[in-house]
Amino acid sequence: LNLILSYLISQENLGSEAMHVLIIGSGGREHALAVALAASPKVSQLSVAPGNPGMEMLAQRLEIDVLDIEGLLIHAQREKIDLTIVGPEAPLAAGIVDRFTEAGLLIFGPVQAAAQLEASKLFAKQMMQQANVPTGHFVFAQTESQALEGLSQFNPPYVIKEDGLAAGKGVTVTSSQEEAEIAIANAFAKNSPVLLEACLYGQELSVLAVCDGVRALPLVAAQDFKRVGDGNTGPNTGGMGAYAPVPFADAALMEKVQTLVLNPILNLMAKRGTPYKGILYAGLMVNNAGDPAVIEFNCRFGDPETQVVLPLLTHSGVDLFDLLFASAQGNLAPFEGALPEVKGAAVTVVVASGGYPAELLTNQVITLPEALPEGVTLYHAGTKRLPKGDLVNSGGRVFTVTGVGATLDEARKKAYEVVPQVKFEGAFYRSDIAAGLSLLKV
Ligand code: AMP
Ligand code: GLY
Repeated sequence: LNLILSYLISQENLGSEAMHVLIIGSGGREHALAVALAASPKVSQLSVAPGNPGMEMLAQRLEIDVLDIEGLLIHAQREKIDLTIVGPEAPLAAGIVDRFTEAGLLIFGPVQAAAQLEASKLFAKQMMQQANVPTGHFVFAQTESQALEGLSQFNPPYVIKEDGLAAGKGVTVTSSQEEAEIAIANAFAKNSPVLLEACLYGQELSVLAVCDGVRALPLVAAQDFKRVGDGNTGPNTGGMGAYAPVPFADAALMEKVQTLVLNPILNLMAKRGTPYKGILYAGLMVNNAGDPAVIEFNCRFGDPETQVVLPLLTHSGVDLFDLLFASAQGNLAPFEGALPEVKGAAVTVVVASGGYPAELLTNQVITLPEALPEGVTLYHAGTKRLPKGDLVNSGGRVFTVTGVGATLDEARKKAYEVVPQVKFEGAFYRSDIAAGLSLLKV
């Protein structure tokens, strides 16, 4: 008993430094959040709801669904959670931040009204129009006949987007009119209105900015590989790999992103009475002249971008807990102009289930390398542990393997050294993540 008491007293003495953090979500992004938060001397305890088997050494797993907001709240109150961090968009769109804040709990992420920037593509376009943010011309169609008529206003390739959360899969980009019409029919079969959009050309870039309602501080820009196949072929996915830093994302481009995209949106959201806190993720297309246009906003960390951005932050000496805590408190002033330029480079490669992004071959037993070389982290995403102990695949994206090195080439070599050692029936990955970057000049 004495031992327990002295332990409790020493915990008490740590005072505000001994933080208990709750992460909501279960993917590779949340595993990367857990690893980065565990590196903070201020975090004494991590919990995750529901998490995945890869996180068991770092965090206590809770069997609470990400959309069970009341269940999460009761747990956070009972356990006196100091900061809750929301990974996926669905609980944000469902109002988890509003509910926790009302109850007096600190939580990282935007309120429901601000999360509409991701949840409704139409709302995002309206905000961009009002704030004069560069983006493609669009037509919103509420009926199938409006959509078919709207299609004739555009030249191929056609871009058709379902209006609502679609985990990156509700978008069709095609040069075939027939495929465009099928995409429209599929959307209306689900009763989803569609946005038709002008096709943007250039290089895609993901900028994740930490926001406090007033300020947006962009983290190192990353590039995601959306298509399932090598050479950017096949259907869109949630992302098959990523790297950072991106050679063409220089100071001049980041300045444009700040002044043309992030600041105007932050100002507008504040003016509307729904200040934006949390991560504002701008999915950009950067044209040959180096000018950015917004493809979409997300209201959360990107997956797999997080698996390169966070290891680089940690590698560069930034305490992720401090940053997210300050955002949730609404005061990032101490970080303004103070985030160090990242050191080194990171590349992450997704190992996916057979069939992804269509019908998946799941429940296959996984074997993993016994030890990882220095600079490599294996993040679990769609894995689960069977009662008898076997680890099996349970989702589309199963692992992301991140290599961190002095250069992109070194980081890439490290990741690809380990990727083929992650084995299960049907497993596949892209072999060209961050390859040939000298070709990527804009
Ligand atoms: P989204 O879910 O809006 O990010 O779209 C998924 C992917 O489709 C993007 O990452 C792009 O690769 C592509 N895409 C979406 N909108 C456009 C557009 N207007 N022009 C070109 N490609 C697009
Ligand atoms: N990697 C794309 C996303 O997180 O939406």
